[in-house]
Amino acid sequence: MKIDDLPIRDELRGQSPYGAPQLDVPVQLNTNENPYPLPEPLVARIAERVAEAARNLNRYPDRDAVELREGLAAYLTRTTGFARSREQVWAANGSNEILQQLLQTFGGPGRSALGFEPSYSMHALISRGTGTAWISGPRRDDFTIDVEEATRVIAEHRPHVVFICSPNNPTGTAVAAETVLALYEAAQAARPSLVVVDEAYVEFSHRASLLPLLQGRPNLVISRTMSKAFGAAGLRLGYLAADAAVVDAVQLVRLPYHLSAVTQATALACLEHTDTLLGYVEQLKAERDRLVDALRELGLEVTDSDANFIQFGRFADTHAVWQAILDQGVLVRDNGVPGWLRVTAGTPAENDAFLDAVRIAVPSPTLAGARLARAASQEL
Ligand SMILES: Cc1ncc(COP(=O)(O)O)c(C=O)c1O
Repeated sequence: MKIDDLPIRDELRGQSPYGAPQLDVPVQLNTNENPYPLPEPLVARIAERVAEAARNLNRYPDRDAVELREGLAAYLTRTTGFARSREQVWAANGSNEILQQLLQTFGGPGRSALGFEPSYSMHALISRGTGTAWISGPRRDDFTIDVEEATRVIAEHRPHVVFICSPNNPTGTAVAAETVLALYEAAQAARPSLVVVDEAYVEFSHRASLLPLLQGRPNLVISRTMSKAFGAAGLRLGYLAADAAVVDAVQLVRLPYHLSAVTQATALACLEHTDTLLGYVEQLKAERDRLVDALRELGLEVTDSDANFIQFGRFADTHAVWQAILDQGVLVRDNGVPGWLRVTAGTPAENDAFLDAVRIAVPSPTLAGARLARAASQEL
């Protein structure tokens, strides 16, 4: 029996599930995880908070996650200087579930969502999964968004949901506030549509969060996660900030008691240790910048990165280079962007291992040629 022999929805036929390879190799730099385990005092605090929650597991959890949303609002207020309250924040099992709830509420059959690709593949996958038609918007060759062209595409397709990923996965580049504002205006002119800014990696960015843009823009949503900067991908905790009406709207589709008491307790413990966790983020930013410099030094092309990962290339045979790096025990990501690979910033030792692998894996004529081309372009 094959999937297609089952009476599944027509639009799911022939689709592939999300799936980064989970290979057991010494250095895994392919899923943009934080390489630092949670610090021991936080692990102890999680155990304490979870034990407390366990005493009440015969009861359903707080359906509205009030204490957690207050904690997340306080975190946003403190780190961006833009005051948020519990009513303007909503939490779910990873930002993927946040995106799913948004699409269930604002997308769905007969509606469409648009994103500028290459971008986070789940925007398209969750759209399709919720019966929302997907529209692939354009980027320039340097992966930035051409506002004029984007405005034209929005006016042509009049999508109900527009995704802007900043910093963008897999390219790493952040989107300027003026660009987001222009796209928001274009989306509102086409029809009143929801604009979702996916800020999963914003804590690693050189640019400030776009959170203050929420002021006076009721159809704008900022999506965040504890999977990256908080180093808690296994926790599955994502959240959004928006007008309180958006939070009220997603209540129409969220499952009752979707966020377990254990999840809420763990996330609250993590929020108590924000400063330590953001300290790791600073280390990772420095390592990210070191990797960018080292790869450019080798003669490779690197897209500017505001994230905890780097897009590097360009390769005539991307898969061959991916495999050759893997043969050195280092797993990076081939996102299907022709000519480019993506590596997550790891610990200093992991990054050294990656750079060693690149030196061996990338044929030296490629490196030498790239170095010459770079020197020539710098002379121009
Ligand atoms: C841009 C972007 N958004 C959202 C997510 C999903 O994160 P979460 O673990 O919160 O579901 C990811 C994960 O890689 C991502 O790259």
